[in-house]
Amino acid sequence: MKTITTVAGLQSEISKLKAKGKKVGFAPTMGALHQGHMSLMQASNDENDITVCSVFVNPTQFNEKTDLDKYPRTLAADEKLLKKNGVDIVFAPTTEEVYPKKLKTELNLDFKGLDKEMEGEFRPGHFAGVAQVVKRLLDIVTPDAIYMGQKDFQQFTLVKYMMDHFHLDTKMRVIPIVRESSGLAMSSRNVRLTPENRANAQEIHRVLKYVKRNKYKRSPDELESYAMERLASIKNFRPEYFTIADARTLRQTDDLQDSDYVVACTAVWAGEVRLIDNMILKKPRNLKIFVR
Ligand code: PAJ
Repeated sequence: MKTITTVAGLQSEISKLKAKGKKVGFAPTMGALHQGHMSLMQASNDENDITVCSVFVNPTQFNEKTDLDKYPRTLAADEKLLKKNGVDIVFAPTTEEVYPKKLKTELNLDFKGLDKEMEGEFRPGHFAGVAQVVKRLLDIVTPDAIYMGQKDFQQFTLVKYMMDHFHLDTKMRVIPIVRESSGLAMSSRNVRLTPENRANAQEIHRVLKYVKRNKYKRSPDELESYAMERLASIKNFRPEYFTIADARTLRQTDDLQDSDYVVACTAVWAGEVRLIDNMILKKPRNLKIFVR
């Protein structure tokens, strides 16, 4: 495994590999890696000759400077884990490499409201920053496929929209949410949970499962209210939203019959830590972007 820190260095490596006809899979991350990230690497390994993982804490997607400063940075441990999981190239650039002063990287894209729903309401500008960095990374790495997690449902939906908009020649592949045995979705932020909040956080998955089980028995509206109340009743927890949405437009849905692709998404503060999770309630059989 090689760690490369410059754009020029990475591009020269990639062009050598492409000249040899190698298929390249790419998983962008912000580091502080865990098993959830590793499932992206494994899927990429299965479907490509070469796996590139980027580790870059992208400043443009943080709406709060303190959140950016607090974001865990553990490159040495990340490299160890990536090596164990068969990654070929780690791209760990500086901010200046990703955003050189002379290069215009802002996309100013109209996301048709995808950036305004759910997370968008609570994290203004966040998705513009995500799309900007992923576009820049895709321009640098030019992979055959990009691997992203269902954990960030709105994120992969928006990135797919951006890729379609620019007619990029890269496939999107989405990996199911990897959970701890308690059901808590794995996240780099989980290490900041107190033991009590961590134990209680498994309730989020239970609520999602309840909603899925009862999707045809109660209306989306009733299920959302029930979920919000149940999450709010947990000590130290404060749910921001629990939304049952059309998974294409991400707009709240009143009736599950109106769409063949529906997702329930939630964001909950557990003490000082903001957790997000989701569950697909309905999915058409032939959606090719999902790995499983
Ligand atoms: P990060 O939070 O490091 O996540 C990197 C990728 O890992 C994302 O696609 C995310 O959905 C996926 N992932 C995280 N936890 C997961 C889990 N429990 N199961 C499955 N996949 C999981 O998301 C970002 O970084 C950034 O916004 C990024 C896309 C890299 C742009 O900066």
